[in-house]
Amino acid sequence: MGLTDLGAALLRTLDPETAHQLAIRALQVTPLPAPGADDPVLRTRVGRLDLPNPVGLAAGLDKNGEALHGLARLGFGFVECGSVTPLAQPGNPRPRLFRLYQDRAIINRMGFNNAGLDAFATRLGRRPTQAVIGANLGANKDTEDKAADYVQGLIRLKGLADYVTVNVSSPNTPGLRALQGRAALDDLLGRLAEARGEDPTPVFLKIAPDLTADEIGLIVEASLDHGLDALIVSNTTLDRPDSLRSPDRGEAGGLSGAPLKSRATEALRAAAEASAGRLPLIAVGGIDSGAEAWARIRAGAAAVQIYSALIYEGPGLVARIKRDLAARLRAEGFSTVSEAVGTAR
Ligand code: FNR
Repeated sequence: MGLTDLGAALLRTLDPETAHQLAIRALQVTPLPAPGADDPVLRTRVGRLDLPNPVGLAAGLDKNGEALHGLARLGFGFVECGSVTPLAQPGNPRPRLFRLYQDRAIINRMGFNNAGLDAFATRLGRRPTQAVIGANLGANKDTEDKAADYVQGLIRLKGLADYVTVNVSSPNTPGLRALQGRAALDDLLGRLAEARGEDPTPVFLKIAPDLTADEIGLIVEASLDHGLDALIVSNTTLDRPDSLRSPDRGEAGGLSGAPLKSRATEALRAAAEASAGRLPLIAVGGIDSGAEAWARIRAGAAAVQIYSALIYEGPGLVARIKRDLAARLRAEGFSTVSEAVGTAR
């Protein structure tokens, strides 16, 4: 067990939100060594975005972009911060974050607690330049015209992030997931395309796992029509599988971690089927090992992201997944991740 893993073990004994704040603080102040260069076999590409390895940090852990330097040193191929909303907002009342230990899962109903776009832009201005950093956009709870909030985020962050994610899939902001319907999505993506203009920064769309294959198919077509660069599949689920055993399984919010695996994989497969290689995909949801990351890559993902497993396993997980992936790629005769994408579709 490394020092950072020991820290992670200690953090598990605290109230989850206090532990989370301490982890962010530790990442800000601990002088972590720079990670070694990645094995070249781990290289991948999400549209026009080149990544040194396919293992990313999912949005929501560093909502305000406060610990980007520390996070970049954990060996991720890319780090997504946010979700950020135009105005600072407190989010839902506590408690709003629950660890389902027996299920290796988390339920959260944070509700986009964040310090707002101005503070976020300032932090991104001091970002590590050698790492790939994404900015995930949300909408304020009280905004009527939610699409306007994403447009505002896109404009304000121009030139600051390596990619921008439009998150229309948080279950904790009323009305947000309705933006995934075809008419609302066309309006949103049309306005974003206009705001984007000639700016080459890739724009990704993050979707829910609680969609039918037909709904996902429509989202893929809308994304292609409006020139989006990739889909992130997926956010947390509102589903509560019967398998859940932990005392907090009845809490309201989005479920993530191991019980999300099958649903997120189904959504990924539906997206891969609909896209047929036309739209790059990033897989998220219950990824906790090299085997799981490999399965998603073979199912069509050009890269993966993790969150919940990092809480249970500690940051050493990133290096373990990378090592395992590199071994699998070599064993199967692939010279980069990109070659393996979708080979078991
Ligand atoms: C999240 N997630 C998330 N996603 C997003 O796009 N914006 C956000 O602000 C958040 N916030 C957030 C907070 C907490 C506490 C959790 C656990 C998750 C969702 C996250 O990025 C990811 O999509 C899911 O957690 C599924 O991946 P894992 O956790 O199963 O690896």
